[in-house]
Amino acid sequence: MFQPDLLAGKRILVTGGGTGLGKAMTTRFLELGASAVICGRRPDVLDGTRAELAATYGDRIAAEQCDIRDPDAVAAMMDRIWATAPLDGLVNNAAGNFLARFETLSPRAMDTVINIVLHGSGYVTLDAGKRWIAEGRPASVLSIVTTYSWTGSAYVVPSAMGKAGVLAMTQSLAVEWGPKGIRLNAIAPGPFPTEGAWERLVPNAELAKRFETGNPLGRVGKPEELNNLAAFLMADGSGFINGEVVTIDAGNWLKGAGQFSMFEDLTDAEWEEMKARGR
Ligand code: HXC
Ligand code: NAP
Repeated sequence: MFQPDLLAGKRILVTGGGTGLGKAMTTRFLELGASAVICGRRPDVLDGTRAELAATYGDRIAAEQCDIRDPDAVAAMMDRIWATAPLDGLVNNAAGNFLARFETLSPRAMDTVINIVLHGSGYVTLDAGKRWIAEGRPASVLSIVTTYSWTGSAYVVPSAMGKAGVLAMTQSLAVEWGPKGIRLNAIAPGPFPTEGAWERLVPNAELAKRFETGNPLGRVGKPEELNNLAAFLMADGSGFINGEVVTIDAGNWLKGAGQFSMFEDLTDAEWEEMKARGR
């Protein structure tokens, strides 16, 4: 889909790049010529992914253990990254989430998710941005949000609060930092099955099927479809896109929003009857 050197010369940090969609995007960035740094809390997971990718991409892949909820740990990670070479891009992908009724949560449960999603993404963006601005270096930030960043969603309320904030950060900084050569965009994915998300968010096989196929295209997203969108948005060729959120969900949220979407199972006979009635 792209020239093989689309991202050559770019160094991109992917938070939560050791697993799931972060790992998939990192792999695609490397394939397109970028260097990448992944970060996360679990050193064994990070090292496994780093070693797997290094077998193909050598020293273009690096890993940093970091809990992004801790701003000092973020600053220390950035010092170590910059000591090798500056970043040109950041993907705010790390997240925490679980399915629960809001009234059952403890304050700490709510904080835990918001601290990862909102504060964590904010700390990493803030630290990288200070360095880019001081150096006059152009850069690109991509945040992985959700469609419930703007619709909200029952049963994942702290995540919805956090993701809405990350979208607000994206839109706000796109204006504030655009003049400094830093663009910020977001991607809102629909269902892309990963172990991390499905084990926390999908209660059983019956609901999994509805969750995965209840969209207009009747299927889940393929990681490469997300990877290509992320690579496009990180590339210089999309340099006039700033402050945008691109939805990649097969029309899932629009189906949920449309008042008449529920009539998809009407039979031909029922449609004929409606036609006759309407005349
Ligand atoms: C209610 C819960 C809970 C649950 C934890 N808590 N899990 N409360 N229901 N399922 C509460 C705990 O009781 C505790 O509160 C507080 O939250 C902190 O829990 P810890 O286990 O100490 O937290 P921690 O080890 O920091 O782990 C963070 C985490 C965990 C968010 C709870 O799930 C995690 O590490 N997640 C990272 C990966 C992840 O979530 N991936 C999915 C992203 S998918 P008390 O008061 O008891 O101390 C996503 C996609 C959305 O975002 C869209 C899909 C289509
Ligand atoms: P995942 O595999 O669970 O990814 C989450 C990653 O975040 C993990 O690698 C985790 O690593 C890291 N992380 C969590 N807390 C962290 C912290 N405090 N500091 C640093 N890293 C942390 O889930 P995923 O499905 O790939 O999700 C990736 C992104 O896509 C998330 O932003 C999610 O909201 C978004 N998304 C996913 C879907 C979907 O269908 N999968 C849909 C919409 C949006 P450690 O645990 O080792 O720290």
